[in-house]
Amino acid sequence: MKDQYNYYKNILEGERLPTAIVDLDVLDKNIESIVKRAKGKKIRVASKSIRCKSILKRILESHPEAFNGLMCFSPEEAVDLAVHGFDNLLVAYPYTRDLQLVRVFPKIKEGKNIILMGDLPEHFENYDRLAKKNGVVVNVCLDIDMSTKFPGIWFGVYRSSLRELSQLRKVLSTIKECPNLRLVGLMGYEAQIAGVCDSNPYTKLINPIIRLLKKLSINRIHKKRASMVQTCRDYGIELDFVNGGGTGSIESTYKDESVNEIAVGSGFFSPILFDYYKDFHYSPAAFYAIEVTRKSQNNIYTCAGGGYVASGSLGREKLPTPFLPEKVKLIPNEMAGEVQTPISYSGEIRIGDPVFFRHSKAGELCERFNDVLLVSNAQVIQRVPTYRGEGKCYL
Ligand SMILES: Cc1ncc(COP(=O)(O)O)c(C=O)c1O
Repeated sequence: MKDQYNYYKNILEGERLPTAIVDLDVLDKNIESIVKRAKGKKIRVASKSIRCKSILKRILESHPEAFNGLMCFSPEEAVDLAVHGFDNLLVAYPYTRDLQLVRVFPKIKEGKNIILMGDLPEHFENYDRLAKKNGVVVNVCLDIDMSTKFPGIWFGVYRSSLRELSQLRKVLSTIKECPNLRLVGLMGYEAQIAGVCDSNPYTKLINPIIRLLKKLSINRIHKKRASMVQTCRDYGIELDFVNGGGTGSIESTYKDESVNEIAVGSGFFSPILFDYYKDFHYSPAAFYAIEVTRKSQNNIYTCAGGGYVASGSLGREKLPTPFLPEKVKLIPNEMAGEVQTPISYSGEIRIGDPVFFRHSKAGELCERFNDVLLVSNAQVIQRVPTYRGEGKCYL
């Protein structure tokens, strides 16, 4: 877009800053592109990368035939979403405390499909105990580890304990002994493909190595997932779904015949981290604006707020990045600050003008704002609450 800065600046005339913005026109394009890239595999929307109910609804309703429910990040979140009409809610990570889990069971009794995740026998014994106590049968899903081991390198994450078929058999035997559980799904998230950028401008020397490791891993991942699915079959279990992937791996995950749904979240907003992949590109649909409140010297302006650094391993790519006006830069000694963010810029910005930043991780933007300004066609459409704006902090 020509003069993107003035386009967004004009939309924000009179709005309070800082604000989070979602450009619905760009979001809709990203949705189209993700649906196309999935090549007919169902998509389960990873809610952690959105964290705003009305945007989740917009995504799901855009292509009802393409989407298959939500991948939630906590049981409490799944219950809140169920209360608001969402269904088919896979909680993608195990939880153990009764107080986290207790509200799930009445919702299941009402007919909502909330699926709980586990990998250790203890997870399932605990779910079974609570299900029995509440007089329900609970759908559960197995999280299998998709990491790849190379000599001296663990290429993957440390989450699930289910690496070998023998471990899977043990937990399948446990689940068989749990009368109040029904195993309906298997999830194998290849984090080392989906979650590791391979075109990172801050690690140029390492990018080719990461690409090579990814290439060497993909076949192994697909074989492993298929053998895990077959083992479930050997136990007489026909799974409703086999989930794999994330935004960063759609290109390879859709080729795995054992997978029938791909998890996607970040691609919809397309934060800056997702610019750093070789195989795909989306446009920034979500970002934030902060106001220039000072000009401390020539070409140096200072903005209020803005230091929304992302979680995970430390790296320059986890910092927010100013993108409009073009050529605005952070100042290395300060970067994006808790209350003050200086920027260098050779053009003219007036005091009170906005500067637009892209955050690094998709869902974390919504943890910083009570609401999001939805814009389309050069206008503000609506302000909608984030999870945070609804007073919900799940993790
Ligand atoms: C289990 C699981 N599946 C899929 C994803 C991918 O999500 P996204 O598309 O937002 O990268 C994640 C991200 O961490 C995840 O934990």
